[in-house]
Amino acid sequence: PMKQRLLVVANRLPVSAVRRGEDSWFLEISAGGLVSALLGVKDVDARWIGWAGVNVPDEVGQRALTKALAEKRCIPVFLDEEIVHLYYNGYCNNMLWPLFHYLGLPQEDRLATTRSFQSQFDAYKRANQMFADVVNKHYQEGDVVWCHDYHLMFLPKCLKEHNSKMKVGWFLHTPFPSSEIHRTLPSRSELLRSVLAADLVGFHTYDYARHFVSACTRILGLEGTPEGVEDQGRLTRVAAFPIGIDADRFKRALDLPAVKEHINELTKRFAGRKVMLGVDRLDMIKGIPQKILAFEKFLEENSAWRDKVVLLQIAVPTRTDVPEYQKLTSQVHEIVGRINGRFGTLTAVPIHHLDRSLDFHALCALYAVTGDYVALVTSLRDGMNLVSYEFVACQGEKKGVLILSEFAGAAQSLGAGALLVNPWNIAEVSASIGYALNMSPDEREKRHRHNYAHVTTHTAQDWAETFVSELNDTVVEAQLRT
Ligand code: UDP
Ligand code: G6P
Repeated sequence: PMKQRLLVVANRLPVSAVRRGEDSWFLEISAGGLVSALLGVKDVDARWIGWAGVNVPDEVGQRALTKALAEKRCIPVFLDEEIVHLYYNGYCNNMLWPLFHYLGLPQEDRLATTRSFQSQFDAYKRANQMFADVVNKHYQEGDVVWCHDYHLMFLPKCLKEHNSKMKVGWFLHTPFPSSEIHRTLPSRSELLRSVLAADLVGFHTYDYARHFVSACTRILGLEGTPEGVEDQGRLTRVAAFPIGIDADRFKRALDLPAVKEHINELTKRFAGRKVMLGVDRLDMIKGIPQKILAFEKFLEENSAWRDKVVLLQIAVPTRTDVPEYQKLTSQVHEIVGRINGRFGTLTAVPIHHLDRSLDFHALCALYAVTGDYVALVTSLRDGMNLVSYEFVACQGEKKGVLILSEFAGAAQSLGAGALLVNPWNIAEVSASIGYALNMSPDEREKRHRHNYAHVTTHTAQDWAETFVSELNDTVVEAQLRT
């Protein structure tokens, strides 16, 4: 039998396009957990539908890009500048993203945001319809359509209205907040109803799934069952599908000569100092200022460590057209500058802060070098956080310690192995840094073993397979019921 085709629909394609000429394009791997996890899924006949991250107003460019993307099994959705401004920068990243992470609306422009709500929401719906149009054009009977993330909450409804037989799943990569938060959204009911049009709705954790079901019962007055949400006899299945990584890909990379060379270089560069590693998109949910302040407190209180430890923070630029992200960038630079001025010497500074992304090999090398020491994940909220998984996967003989925010989804899976912290509590994080740096090899080994077992057995592959097979089953069961 033919393998079932999978249409993966996400705002962000796994590759982003950079224009090199009128009809020539360069494709680079996109950053972020959604893309990494989906790249870790093998052996499926998948096609990707999404936005390539650029505005392409001309037909020559669109045709050339469509062709270049086809080689990667990607199909572009072209969004113009105005839509990107209102839908992506506005509704998705200035409204839904902070709200779903319990950060509220940006303090200063709360009123402005409230005012622009309607035009942004209209653009959001229009954008979702544009994704639906592309899906409909490429859909073949029997395909599974898997929609991803908060950008596309309207998509299940658009798709089902066009073709009620389509198998449609939707997965959220962020937290789904308590219904008390969700109900502050002016579009709260419309969003829930559109998501409910899917056959299967998935979240990283049981808590997020429960929040979603209770939003549907409290706001829409529907019935929540152990299976999901029921509306006049029609069931939308709701469940938790914790994501994972392709751990083997990281293990294999560590054996490559290029990566070994990187590791040697880094080891030399940081000789005599312990490395605390942070790898995050430069996003307010990651708690980067909080992490740096905790590190400052640690230096303040442990003068003996001052020339023996360095915080290496990779801050990948992201969503740079959104004012909140611009503010965060200058805020972080200011704090880093102040602390380096305070504790730096003629030859060394305590914080290496890099505003850039790393390629896969450089990243693996960093995770491995940190092995001796500590990774710091201090998200104020995070759907799952794959950086913590990747760090664990790259530990060799020297078992690095993971300090992990209790507000990351990963805290539920790596909780017993990591040092869990409340990232808002600077004193607690600072104490954990001290504890991690002084941890006995025995305890490190024991904690690492727990995490490693989890990360290597709960893979991205399992995640995708489980979701898709559950989606197929759900549709069969629904047919049996009617
Ligand atoms: N990552 C990346 N480029 C970099 C550094 C990291 O693409 O320069 C990847 C990293 O390997 C991880 C992902 O970005 O897979 C971040 O995922 P996570 O779930 O930790 O957070 P998200 O960015 O999705 O909020
Ligand atoms: C998070 C979101 C993804 C998004 C990624 C990068 O992981 O859940 O949907 O792709 O961040 O953000 P960006 O806005 O660049 O796609």
